[in-house]
Amino acid sequence: MTAPSQTAPDRRHAPPEFPAGFRWGAATAAFQVEGALDADGRTPSVWDTFTAVPGRVDNGDRADLAVDHYRRYRDDVALMAQLGLNTYRFSVSWPRVQPDGRGAANVKGLDFYSRLVDELLANGIEPMLTLYHWDHPQVLQDAGGWANRDMTERFADYAALVAARLGDRVPLWVTLNEPWCTAFLGHASGIHAPGVADDATTLTVAHHLNLAHGLGVQALRAALPGTAQVSIALNPAPVRTPVDTQENQDAVRRADALRNRIFLDPLLRGQYPADLIADTAHITDWGFVRDGDLATATSPIDVLGVNYYTPLYVAAGPGPADPYNRWVGSDGLVHIAPADGPSTIHGVVDAAALRELLNRIRHDYGPVPIVIAENGVASPDTVGPDGRVDDAGRVAYLHAHLAALHDAITDGVDVRGYVMWSLIDNFEWVYGYSQRFGLIHVDRDTQRRTVKDSGHWFRQVIAANAIPPLDPPAAG
Ligand code: BGC
Repeated sequence: MTAPSQTAPDRRHAPPEFPAGFRWGAATAAFQVEGALDADGRTPSVWDTFTAVPGRVDNGDRADLAVDHYRRYRDDVALMAQLGLNTYRFSVSWPRVQPDGRGAANVKGLDFYSRLVDELLANGIEPMLTLYHWDHPQVLQDAGGWANRDMTERFADYAALVAARLGDRVPLWVTLNEPWCTAFLGHASGIHAPGVADDATTLTVAHHLNLAHGLGVQALRAALPGTAQVSIALNPAPVRTPVDTQENQDAVRRADALRNRIFLDPLLRGQYPADLIADTAHITDWGFVRDGDLATATSPIDVLGVNYYTPLYVAAGPGPADPYNRWVGSDGLVHIAPADGPSTIHGVVDAAALRELLNRIRHDYGPVPIVIAENGVASPDTVGPDGRVDDAGRVAYLHAHLAALHDAITDGVDVRGYVMWSLIDNFEWVYGYSQRFGLIHVDRDTQRRTVKDSGHWFRQVIAANAIPPLDPPAAG
């Protein structure tokens, strides 16, 4: 993403404008939208296995069909064009393009992404490709998955295969999506695939993800044209505490290390935080970090992807354990939900925290270019008798977060784009189909797509490169 020019908007007379060249997009992930789980040589992923276990996913929902994007991608790209998106963030299914987790590519699997990329480009939409959005081949999990250091090399090989085929047409590459989720939800609380709950394994996995990212960056640089940009999408969050005691401040520090600095520090400083290593010394001596690993992990990126949904609230115990956040090495931490205010499956809605987060990254890590790679909200959307999907709550959410983003840009944060989660209602991991995040509604029985009011409103944002008033326009 090229640096947009920093024009100072006159906010007295006009809606807040974004810098020229700002990227506007929406995102999906392969397992959440594609379906076609056994088409064209794809093998099962770790999420195929996980979702087959009774009780793991709400309502026993499965992603076999998802929203049928593998077959309907042309129609979906046409809808993207209708929304005026200039960027589409999607992920590649590893078991589709490298079914054995090693060795040669499955040409038919790569063909799908090649057709998708061509369709996007034909519609003037820039592809933003995520290599890993959590769905590695089950065969690699059978060999230990991310707990096995070999996985880092496997990832770099896979990155090289995808880059060799699509590198001529994809300008922006994201190595990993939210490695915190893979490490902590997948291996500490165990509520995500592969469903492991082991503290030492969690920290090993976190390091292997940091290393895999660095190896992936190097593999991409070797295969891509010099103009291509390389990124990673993290999900850092401001950490807050209800009462400002010394114990609670220490809880904030510990949670910040486990959620934020464990990924940001290796990435942008080439080191792990000393307090994180001390906090977890009773679990591991971090002997899995070998000479040279951190130099690899800090291989330069061009832009940092920030996925933001909600701040974290913690306090020093005693209190109920948080089933979502398992605070590895810090058992005394409890989750404190704020008593009031709107909240979602992710937590409270707090747009101002986005501005705070972006300023914090700039302050602590320097002026790294940023793209918001995910931000959005679920709501129980339905198609009304008039054919409209009235999701005024999502419009308000977007409005507030874009205003906060604009404030951060005015503060001097170098933000290059905003990619909304999600383009389309989809398979929301352990919530199955019960949560709808899309700008586009999907009827579960017919797969019929309907652009929601938020989609029409977002189209106005993109067309104006500015934040329009809250009233959504009529569909049309
Ligand atoms: C993930 C998405 C997910 C979204 C909404 C993010 O953490 O990257 O895959 O659907 O949140 O929960």
